[in-house]
Amino acid sequence: MSKFITFEGVDGAGKSTHLHWFAEALRQRGRDVIVTREPGGTPLGEALREMLLNQPMSMGTEALLMFAARHEHVEQVIRPALRAGTWVISDRFTDASFAYQGGGRGMDWERLRLLEQWVHPDLQPDLTLFFDVPVEVARQRLSNNVTLDRFEQEQGEFFERVRTAYHRRVAEHPQRYAVVDGAQPLDAVQSQLASLLEALA
Ligand code: TYD
Repeated sequence: MSKFITFEGVDGAGKSTHLHWFAEALRQRGRDVIVTREPGGTPLGEALREMLLNQPMSMGTEALLMFAARHEHVEQVIRPALRAGTWVISDRFTDASFAYQGGGRGMDWERLRLLEQWVHPDLQPDLTLFFDVPVEVARQRLSNNVTLDRFEQEQGEFFERVRTAYHRRVAEHPQRYAVVDGAQPLDAVQSQLASLLEALA
């Protein structure tokens, strides 16, 4: 049976590096895997990503566009792939809206729940890998980037709120998450991921 796996964490937590390693390890086990991302994953979603990451907008607009891109992604990519027996690995999904728009921006949690219910009432990831790192560590890693997007330009307190909101989501749905200590060296994180793979595939 195909599975839907999402990767989450504050910017700089290292999730994207580990995501590619994880997808490759699954392929080596003979799984058919697609890697996708949010916001994005479809032509329309990628156009919305460009706006979301670069253009100033109100909090409500930001949340609605995130979920609009997600609706397209779920309908055009995620559901068809899962139906066809393909594993789907997504760099971020709805947990990021709770963390960034809910925690970071302060949008009402219940309002986000309504959007979640609207866009994917019957779909949740089978597994979410949450890469947890102290905000200072994540900020330090981002400081090497030449250009920072609209979210990455936020201050430390914003990311503290994002991290706290992720913890709240983990506490609400503990069975769906694996919390990975992303502050460890690369090979230590990979051995945590390898044990998760053992259990999965
Ligand atoms: P990110 O996944 O970190 O990509 P990159 O590694 O290329 O920087 O960037 C996406 C940004 O979008 C990230 O800062 C978090 C933000 N975001 C939200 O605010 N809400 C959402 O629902 C999603 C999916 C992402």
